[in-house]
Amino acid sequence: MKPFKAAIFDLDGVIVDTAKFHFLAWHRLAAELGFEFTEKDNERQKGVSRMESLEVLLEVGGLLDLSSEKKEELATKKNEWYKEYLYKMTPAEILPGAKDFLKYLRLRGIRIALASASKNAPIILEKLNITDLFDAIVDGNSVSKAKPNPEVFLKAAEQLGIAPSDCFVFEDAQAGVEGAKRAGMRVVGIGEPTVLNQAEIVVRGFPDIEPVILLSHIN
Ligand code: BG6
Ligand code: MG
Repeated sequence: MKPFKAAIFDLDGVIVDTAKFHFLAWHRLAAELGFEFTEKDNERQKGVSRMESLEVLLEVGGLLDLSSEKKEELATKKNEWYKEYLYKMTPAEILPGAKDFLKYLRLRGIRIALASASKNAPIILEKLNITDLFDAIVDGNSVSKAKPNPEVFLKAAEQLGIAPSDCFVFEDAQAGVEGAKRAGMRVVGIGEPTVLNQAEIVVRGFPDIEPVILLSHIN
């Protein structure tokens, strides 16, 4: 099998555990609205845009008739709570092995892009001090169609100047795995094998694999 030329990374839940902060902020919003929101419900929010995440939450709470103004207000409130966690973040919060893996790929000449649904991606990369490790950054500010639409991955490959079939994507969300596959890319799932069963390989996190093993496995 031919070696891959580019690695495209999701951010939330892959490079940093912001997925837990998203959950805490949505959970708080649900509590304020008077219902329980579980981690299982939260699984459906992973990888999708802020407004689609809100729709998941409102569906769980049976709140189906809110005006678009009210929805904007709720999404903004959640984002303000979420940003309180982001502002406290330090480079120590990069998930174990992620930074070493990015550096390892760069040393091998593999191009690296970010493909995230988050509009907060620039702040997060800055707080983690890893913006410079990416050759291209595509995030929620530059795409109009959320995962599982392949747009974010195709834009990332285009910015790198690499064909989709030469890209490997690292994803923790079902919607992300699906979007990457629809983009014609190969996918490593980061998380639960039962949840990410559409991915070619699934690992619990970067420490579970020596980079050299991963690279030989996917080359
Ligand atoms: C994705 C998360 O990375 O970003 C989703 O997995 C989130 O859960 C989405 O809804 C949008 O994030 P933000 O930071 O723009 O609200
Ligand atoms: Mg994610």
